[in-house]
Amino acid sequence: MRLKDRVAIVTGGSSGIGRGVCLEYAREGAKVVVADVIEHPKPGKHHDKDVTTPTMDVIKDLGGDGLFYQTDMSEEDSVRALVQETIAHYGRLDIIVNNAGIFIPGDTQSLTVAEWDQVTAVNIRGIFIATKYAIPHLKESRFGRIINVASVHAFHGGGGPAYAPAKAGVVNLTRDTAIEVGSCGITVNAICPGYIETPIQDYLTPEDIADCLHKTPLPRLGLPKDIGRAAVFFASNDAEWITGAALPVDGGWLAPIGI
Ligand SMILES: NC(=O)c1ccc[n+]([C@@H]2O[C@H](COP(=O)([O-])OP(=O)(O)OC[C@H]3O[C@@H](n4cnc5c(N)ncnc54)[C@H](O)[C@@H]3O)[C@@H](O)[C@H]2O)c1
Repeated sequence: MRLKDRVAIVTGGSSGIGRGVCLEYAREGAKVVVADVIEHPKPGKHHDKDVTTPTMDVIKDLGGDGLFYQTDMSEEDSVRALVQETIAHYGRLDIIVNNAGIFIPGDTQSLTVAEWDQVTAVNIRGIFIATKYAIPHLKESRFGRIINVASVHAFHGGGGPAYAPAKAGVVNLTRDTAIEVGSCGITVNAICPGYIETPIQDYLTPEDIADCLHKTPLPRLGLPKDIGRAAVFFASNDAEWITGAALPVDGGWLAPIGI
């Protein structure tokens, strides 16, 4: 087991990618704090249609340890309480995976200012808040890791005027934080998923999804487990000298762009 007894917070851990990270961490022996606004997984229109069991129940079935903590990443008090509860329960924090994210379809002309604020509040401001409250505890760990979930949309337009800039910001926030906490032995890296089969894709049509498959050189779309394994790598000892990196896990989506 590569993460035996390490304590990890995974935000947005009830559904999709976050759930995939939680399950891979549990399989690798980590104690997983599942942080999400909802405890039950969101059933998707295209993917995860029949997923109903809360992530914590699956972790327990795997013989793992963890807890669910209801958290809204857009609320500072809620995020502070998440970190406090983790420390109260486990006495330490080794890893935080800042994964929670939302997408609201629309362009500059149709998206409201309130919607722009909502997307950026979760997708980048929430990462700043969580990182801020996690760092003092990660400094105490010999294995301090911050893993931010960005997107291939960090590197090109087309993801909308709130989502794409927030994800580009996450990549640079990752680099900035890596510089800040490097001397404390904490690594900070981003994972940039391509198309992953999760409920966030509900706004797409089957034709849109076929187009995404066409844009992906490897002959399948991504699964939460693909991101989960990358998150295990960044959290493991194998990645102890990697920091400030942004790793595409995208089936080759970005290969034509040359990132
Ligand atoms: N699925 C993809 O193709 C894809 C591609 C690139 C990046 N991403 C990113 O991966 C991350 C996870 O996305 P997903 O595809 O698993 O989506 P998802 O919708 O399946 O899951 C997101 C989870 O985040 C939770 N969440 C939403 N708002 C929250 C908040 N304010 N506080 C706490 N939790 C909140 C939701 O309840 C849900 O459980 C996001 O940051 C997303 O932008 C996804």
